Amino acid sequence: MKPPDWRPPTLTTARLTLRPFEPDDAPALFPYANNPNVTRFTLWDHHKTLAETAAFVGDYARLRYLEGTAEPYAITFAADPGHPVGSCGVFWASEANRNMELGYWVAEPFWGGGIAVEASRAMVDLAFRDYDPVRLQARVIAGNAASCRVLEKLGFRFEGTLRASLLRRGRFEDVMVYAVLRSEWEAAG
Ligand SMILES: CC(C)(COP(=O)(O)OP(=O)(O)OC[C@H]1O[C@@H](n2cnc3c(N)ncnc32)[C@H](O)[C@@H]1OP(=O)(O)O)[C@@H](O)C(=O)NCCC(=O)NCCS
Repeated sequence: MKPPDWRPPTLTTARLTLRPFEPDDAPALFPYANNPNVTRFTLWDHHKTLAETAAFVGDYARLRYLEGTAEPYAITFAADPGHPVGSCGVFWASEANRNMELGYWVAEPFWGGGIAVEASRAMVDLAFRDYDPVRLQARVIAGNAASCRVLEKLGFRFEGTLRASLLRRGRFEDVMVYAVLRSEWEAAG
């Protein structure tokens, strides 16, 4: 059990500071979350109003931290930690089966710079260090080649496609499943 005021630990990588969201992050994040290109392959829809982003960085984040969940994290550049440029995190897919899941998105102006891989590597390390999963998975809506590439670069293995398993925006989507096992992550060092 985590204390009620628990928040995920701030993490640093070569270029990034990964930190909990603050309610006053909304104005900086909104223009990025307001972009339908970002949500083309996500479960969430792009934010139409600043209030939606405020709910995400405020109430949603607070409730997740209250549960002891290391999601959502603000992705920021270490040189500018007040300015979120995306979000990532890890959470239980099934705690009973010790299966966790990874999620991430990066603001479009920063795509292709290796941010998702750098942030996600820190998330996987955190999951295996601070929780006790045997498996960390990621689910990708078919067609999201950039996300598949991120997972391949991290060393996740493609396990298969759950055909027509997701009803999203009126369409049945194929969902690709990737995972890394604790033993594989530790062996890769
Ligand atoms: C997927 C996403 C997080 C990647 O973020 P990013 O910071 O650009 O990722 P990185 O730069 O670390 O790595 C992306 C890799 O995908 C490659 N890539 C990008 N677009 C691609 C495409 N259309 N087809 C194939 N590969 C592609 C890049 O070249 C890079 O690989 P490389 O380093 O070998 O060249 C970002 O595109 C995004 O936020 N998309 C919208 C939200 C989303 O889909 N989230 C994931 C849901 S599962």
